[in-house]
Amino acid sequence: MATLEEELVRIGKLVDDDLASLLTRRRPVRLWDAAYHLPKAGGKRLRPFLTISVCKALGGKEQDALPAATAVELIQTFSLVHDDIIDRDSTRRGVPTVHRKWGISTAIIAGDLLHIKAYDAVTRSAMKNPNLLRTLPSIIAEINDSTVRVCEGQEMDEELERKTQPTEDEYLEMISKKTASLFEAATTIGALAAESSSESIESMRRFGHLLGLSFQIVDDILGLTADEKELGKPVGSDIREGKRTLPIVYALSKGSNEERKAILKTLGNRKASARRYSAAIKMVASIGALDYSRRKAEDYAHEARKALLSLPESNERKLLDEALQFILKRSY
Ligand code: IPE
Ligand code: IPE
Ligand code: MG
Ligand code: MG
Repeated sequence: MATLEEELVRIGKLVDDDLASLLTRRRPVRLWDAAYHLPKAGGKRLRPFLTISVCKALGGKEQDALPAATAVELIQTFSLVHDDIIDRDSTRRGVPTVHRKWGISTAIIAGDLLHIKAYDAVTRSAMKNPNLLRTLPSIIAEINDSTVRVCEGQEMDEELERKTQPTEDEYLEMISKKTASLFEAATTIGALAAESSSESIESMRRFGHLLGLSFQIVDDILGLTADEKELGKPVGSDIREGKRTLPIVYALSKGSNEERKAILKTLGNRKASARRYSAAIKMVASIGALDYSRRKAEDYAHEARKALLSLPESNERKLLDEALQFILKRSY
């Protein structure tokens, strides 16, 4: 039986092949090179793994879920290209960001191309696969709904940057949309591709949603504490950009007046020195915000597990359970 690691690699390769054929180089090569840059750099491929594993756990066939898994990965990649412009980040998946290498204009268009290619991935495959043709409208509706929510979440992320007393509820609404919605789509689409009962579809929606919340909270912690090389993207840039991540929301609400003032002075201050950013991170940690955030991530993963256990026992269910543990323990 395959381990989680082996399965991530195996599914990663299947998706890589799809991506390579969807993004073949043509004129203008600058644009297509820019679009293929992040797909080529890899990534964890967690979302396609979820789509395919949920489909199989529900008795569906891998080939009926693969095009949709590739589509979900393309939505993820396009949102990353645009997100890095918004967040002014210079590295992603261990390589320079698209806008850093090709400029903002090309990066916007490359992101658009990746977005469109998500639809290409499913529609062209459905023309050759009657099972997929049946499930296609519901899969496309799911992709649409989740992408709309990603857009809303990204705007909320921006809006929260202007708040000095952001609440945990506001934060949760924001990450539900910007991050959990695509994880939710990944698992829901797996169930749709397996043509499951509406009950199973709803359990898998809940599983993906809770897993996604846990994932983003861990990401917030890593964004303050990880090893930058291992993470493959910048550490501390959330502080520079004034992001109201969970550790920050907690520190701003539980810190003393002095601590609040000190954190707010550095948060979003693009001119502050690296030393000031790390001092702010230390202060956030000393308030207990990292421990609190980790407990929250564990709580959501625990709830996600309950939803997962509604599936019949199978090797795929075991791998999905391991994925929950991986999300909590990951360092990249
Ligand atoms: C990054 O997602 C965006 C967030 C939701 C934090 P991943 O950490 O899954 O990115 P890749 O696909 O592995 O690069
Ligand atoms: C994650 O955004 C969600 C999307 C990309 C839509 P973040 O800005 O929180 O994620 P990273 O840290 O850049 O991966
Ligand atoms: Mg970002
Ligand atoms: Mg962002």
